[in-house]
Amino acid sequence: MPDLVRYQVVDRVAVLSIDNPPVNALSAGVWEALDLTVERAAADDSADAIVLTGAGPTFIAGADIKVFASLKTAADSMRRSAGTHAILRRIEDCPKVVVAAIQGHALGGGNEVAMACHYRVATTDARIGQPEVVLGLIPGAAGTQRLPRLVGPELAMRMCTDGKPISAQEALAAGLIDEITNDDLLLTAIHFARAHAAPRKTRALNDRIEDKPRAHHAAQAARATLAAATAGSRTPYAALEAIEYGIDHDFDTGSIRERELFAECLLSKESKALRHLFFAEREAAKVPGVPKDARTQAIKHSAIVGAGAMGCGIAMAYANAGISVLLKDVDPAALDRGMAKIRSSYESSRAKGKMTADAAADRVALITPTLTYDGFGTADIVVEAVFEDLDLKVTTFSELGRVTRPDCLLASNTSALDIEAFAMASGRPDKVIGHHFFSPANVMKLLEIVRARDTSAATIATSLRLAKQLGKVGVVVGNSFGFVANRLLGYYLREAHLLLEEGASAAQIDQALTDFGMPMGPFAMQDVVGIDVSARVRHSLKSLGKTRAEGPQSEVMDRLFELGRYGQKTGAGWYRYEPGNRTPIEDPLIEELAAQEAAKRGVERRTIPNEEIVARVTTALANEAARILEEGYAIRPGDIDLIYVHGYGFPRDRGGPLFYADTVGLPVILQRVLEYRGRFGDYWTPAPLLEKFVGEGRGFYPAS
Ligand code: 3HC
Repeated sequence: MPDLVRYQVVDRVAVLSIDNPPVNALSAGVWEALDLTVERAAADDSADAIVLTGAGPTFIAGADIKVFASLKTAADSMRRSAGTHAILRRIEDCPKVVVAAIQGHALGGGNEVAMACHYRVATTDARIGQPEVVLGLIPGAAGTQRLPRLVGPELAMRMCTDGKPISAQEALAAGLIDEITNDDLLLTAIHFARAHAAPRKTRALNDRIEDKPRAHHAAQAARATLAAATAGSRTPYAALEAIEYGIDHDFDTGSIRERELFAECLLSKESKALRHLFFAEREAAKVPGVPKDARTQAIKHSAIVGAGAMGCGIAMAYANAGISVLLKDVDPAALDRGMAKIRSSYESSRAKGKMTADAAADRVALITPTLTYDGFGTADIVVEAVFEDLDLKVTTFSELGRVTRPDCLLASNTSALDIEAFAMASGRPDKVIGHHFFSPANVMKLLEIVRARDTSAATIATSLRLAKQLGKVGVVVGNSFGFVANRLLGYYLREAHLLLEEGASAAQIDQALTDFGMPMGPFAMQDVVGIDVSARVRHSLKSLGKTRAEGPQSEVMDRLFELGRYGQKTGAGWYRYEPGNRTPIEDPLIEELAAQEAAKRGVERRTIPNEEIVARVTTALANEAARILEEGYAIRPGDIDLIYVHGYGFPRDRGGPLFYADTVGLPVILQRVLEYRGRFGDYWTPAPLLEKFVGEGRGFYPAS
């Protein structure tokens, strides 16, 4: 067995270093080794005290998340939790002082281990938290019981329900950390251990939770915040329940309740979906042909061509990451409008208390407007965000090839067009890549990274690193028309539009899909984005002989475009809007137009149940995604799930369209496609990969 917890004695202090790279996750082996090593230190006459630390850059990032998939029943989970609870209790009961020395992260089980130690010393840049809720879990190693005893119920409830780590400074102020240091962590912890002879058991520190009415009041307040902020997730409520239960009962009884609630969460569909996304996000960084240690370029200075909505959003995304931006547009008025929009967006963040006035001013100062290419020679990357017009983009790339340094990356924000054409025009194909941002680009998490034939591994690796720097999830896809995101969106919207013609109202379709978990229905979304934008894209595609989704298309949207109903910005689109109010109001005109278009296409209108609406759009997504996978434009199903979750808000707790399809069952999906083919025509044809998977009795993901 590898030495998962290393042991040495320094200055009569036993130093235990957890050594399970890359993040010292608590696997079964680590738990066992930890237990044995603490026992050894307790019995070691050459040691008077113990320091527990993590080898490498981080203390402990939590329980080993991979292990959870092997726990199939509540009894499995309860048994495992009982084991870890007992190990932590033995650490806490150790007669010698145990000090946790925390660097990097102490997250989840990591913080729970630290809290079972008698004291905690951390580096000033350490981060400490209980992020389990992000995985659909609650703390499961008595964190809901020890944390309130150390920091009080309010902060404990906040940390366990929002999952956000806190800084070492905040932890120190709250009593979670006893000392922070800029000096050598281990030496500080050793001195600390030698200076504190008496063990202090966290589970016995009851003074912070004695005021029960206050604790219940805090729980009520936390519930009210949750009701306003989260869409129906059970997990944060379970965390509150465990904390409250532990305040009303003793530590041991509270711990048992925590185990039960943890097991319930662990076995939920929501947690399985969220854990799937956790690993999908990490897998997405692994790209065939791009070695882990591929050379990357530092990105400090950028330039953006086009100061429209996308260009400005991208400029803000860069400025938010501390990267300077030259924002170029040929039209002075457009540039002024863009800069005004950027200033007002930062001002509104400041007014809402999301950033300080200084931070807002610093970010605006990073963005320099320009009408020329002057200064482009300093850029490490240029993002082209001009109109979605092939010729204009090709011309822009040939100009960029001349005005930038040979090592400068050239990225296009096109949402559909051929990156190859830009690569050729630039004269520097290895540096050309698609960086497809999603609107609003400073908010949406997805960066679709499109590799063309000659895009180099270094350009892809740099793009992935840059995505992380920008706080985005970068997903590498192939250069097919519409790439992956818009290709899928085309099928999703096509089905929504056809359902409207068949008899469902825009409001019903939107409601069915928001009930399913989408943040916004397709019609409300188009009213925000602009029907003119969608209609122009559709017309330009028609002129290229392309379409976003093969098969019939409803033309109701074209009628709206002709009527000048562009959505919220014109006060009417799929819905009506009162001046100054964004609440959509149903408009009988849509029904009329849908009936007219249905008559033209010979479609008989009917009452459509909400289940059919959800089934039709999600089946369309799964079937087309299977084609994309088979054609090799997406590397793996997880990448497609990430694209729809982070690009279009597919509910995280359903794991993305393909994970969701697996939960429905691929035989059901296939049977639906065949049924729809019978009812609606041959545009519903099963993807060969879908048929193959059903034949093999597997899903998009092998069963875990
Ligand atoms: N279990 C298993 N693997 C983990 C892990 C964990 N808790 N945390 C990270 N990893 C793995 C990742 O999958 C990745 O593996 P790969 O290289 O093979 O793809 C590797 O460690 C590095 O992870 P990142 O790419 O995320 O590295 P970063 O440096 O960007 O981030 C981090 C480091 C902030 C620690 C981040 O990994 C993270 O947030 N990890 C998860 C933390 C967490 O959720 N902890 C709670 C777990 S549940 C729990 O503890 C229950 C308990 O209460 C009983």
